[in-house]
Amino acid sequence: MQVLPKILVTGCGGMLGEAVYNHFKNRARVIATDKNVNEPWLHNLDVTDYASVREFVYRVNPDYIFHLAALTDMEYCEKNHLDAYKTNAIGSENIALLCKKLDIPMIYISTAGVFDGKKEVYEDYDVPNPLSIYGKSKYAGECSVKSILSKYFVFRPGWMIGGGPDKDKKFINKIIKQIRDGKKVLHVVDDKMGSPTYTYDLARIIEKVIFTCPYGAYNAVCEGGGSRYDIAKEILRIKGLDKKIKVKKVSSQELKKYIKEDYFAPRPYSEQMVNIKLQIRGVDIPRHWKICLQEYMEKFDWGI
Ligand SMILES: NC(=O)c1ccc[n+]([C@@H]2O[C@H](COP(=O)([O-])OP(=O)(O)OC[C@H]3O[C@@H](n4cnc5c(N)ncnc54)[C@H](OP(=O)(O)O)[C@@H]3O)[C@@H](O)[C@H]2O)c1
Repeated sequence: MQVLPKILVTGCGGMLGEAVYNHFKNRARVIATDKNVNEPWLHNLDVTDYASVREFVYRVNPDYIFHLAALTDMEYCEKNHLDAYKTNAIGSENIALLCKKLDIPMIYISTAGVFDGKKEVYEDYDVPNPLSIYGKSKYAGECSVKSILSKYFVFRPGWMIGGGPDKDKKFINKIIKQIRDGKKVLHVVDDKMGSPTYTYDLARIIEKVIFTCPYGAYNAVCEGGGSRYDIAKEILRIKGLDKKIKVKKVSSQELKKYIKEDYFAPRPYSEQMVNIKLQIRGVDIPRHWKICLQEYMEKFDWGI
């Protein structure tokens, strides 16, 4: 009988964790953890607490650790930089040190936010220069992983599509909430560009790469790029609401006039990426983000 690999996942209660758990639960023995235990299948684990993580990791004795845990609210990170570094940098370092002790591979989820946005589209070998505390702390985590370990996979996704109505803290759910609130005009920025990345496609890429490709860092985004405005338009088209609700382009500066949230963390003009290493290695899994967005919208009941 084939023994399935044992995978310990940190931060598995979030957007990406929803897909990673569902994708891997029948392909591996998954031990899912988070500091926010929002599912019956989650164990409590705070990655900043080295002693308890060490005790847990030694007891579980995994074959891989997927490190998803992070503080992902950019404004929170900007205002609480010690907390951001404690979780995103030190928490990652803790996991890397334990992977080193167990001599197992670590899977680290980095971000497009490590780039400064001066280029239109980023390839895997472009040099990071993060602007925000979130980006800097994630890049610090990435650097720790690379300096402590030789057995690692770093994945750099773009704007995440995933989590569903309960776990999606990002743009898509924010747009859907405005629609649910009855807004007839949505003001959306068209001066921020990115590469949407569907969590289920990312989970498939992770599986393919860790079992068939050499260690290293890989961009891992869906095909195609676009602005926040393009994504909002696509959500309305998929839901058949494009005749009833208007989307108006605004600049990031103007946005403050129309919404109560203040997105003050510095965001690069472009976080668009292409996966040249995946392409070279022959991993052609990612689909176009519009196809993924359609699948995502149909997967959940959004109440709109
Ligand atoms: N969302 C995106 O657009 C995006 C894009 C590129 C890369 N990423 C990266 O992808 C990974 C997964 O993020 P996500 O999108 O799934 O975000 P998420 O929904 O915020 O998930 C992250 C999870 O980690 C948890 N966490 C925070 N601090 C922790 C700690 N000290 N110990 C254990 N768990 C902790 C969070 O709990 P709380 O909710 O209580 O904080 C949350 O459940 C992260 O590394 C993130 O940086 C995300």
